[in-house]
Amino acid sequence: MLKGEIYIPFVTNKELLDAAQNENYAVGAFNINNMEIAQAIVSTAYELNSPVILAVSQGAIKYAGIEYLSSIAKTAASINKIPISLHLDHGTDFKVILQCIRHGFSSVMIDGSHLPFDENVALTKKVVGVAHPCGVSVEAELGRLVGIEDQISVEEKDAVFTNPDEANLFVEKTNVDSLAIAIGSAHGIYKGEPKLDFDRLKAINEKVKIPLVLHGASGIPDESILKSVKLGINKINIDTELRLAFRDGVKKIVTESDVYDPRKICGAARDAMKNIVKYKIQIFGSENKA
Ligand code: G3H
Ligand code: ZN
Repeated sequence: MLKGEIYIPFVTNKELLDAAQNENYAVGAFNINNMEIAQAIVSTAYELNSPVILAVSQGAIKYAGIEYLSSIAKTAASINKIPISLHLDHGTDFKVILQCIRHGFSSVMIDGSHLPFDENVALTKKVVGVAHPCGVSVEAELGRLVGIEDQISVEEKDAVFTNPDEANLFVEKTNVDSLAIAIGSAHGIYKGEPKLDFDRLKAINEKVKIPLVLHGASGIPDESILKSVKLGINKINIDTELRLAFRDGVKKIVTESDVYDPRKICGAARDAMKNIVKYKIQIFGSENKA
């Protein structure tokens, strides 16, 4: 894609997710923090001929720097010719959103889920107003993801989870391209088996016409993922399972032998992450959709 004089190797989330919605599969959004993580994700997606989203959080930007992360992603995308989006994950700072647009991100998430409805609408509209004219997609979030240890009662569900009518109104008012919804998933390692509210997902999908996003998908059983995709989820976010694979890959090689070469240590982590990415892409149904 050519934007003015700058070569942008990325496609937008809108392009990826609209295609996924038409054919009823989901695209994985995997978080990157360094080169090995990006390589594991993109090389695996390439091997499976799958589109993929590289998700960069504000924390990752703080850790590695936006120049490093955007350059790593651009390099990965120019070597592996598959549809790749570079996406800001859980953006809460308008300045960071502008910075991402300037650095060639093709998609940004504005997470106003902690705000009252009208304030979330206002903030999301502000982001859409700057992103869309630059050809950048916007994901917003409505409803709050529960904490891993939270026990949500039936009454509390309505206060915390996404309301289908509100979701419809939110999309109409903001003109976002995709919507992250709260149906019972949580970020991090689940203590028990996560129970998703599929009736709510079905109701949201009947009212909202844009692609829906599931956050906190690490640790959700495969059957629930398959059901979510069937009911309208087109983007699935995975971070924790990659982190665990990275840790386990390093642990194994460091304890099994006297290894101190960073290429061997990070290489083991990269191999372990590739297995996770492969498994997820196959479950999400995006294999051969590049
Ligand atoms: O935004 C990132 C995701 O929602 C990741 O969630 O760490 O539970 O996989 P996870
Ligand atoms: Zn998330």
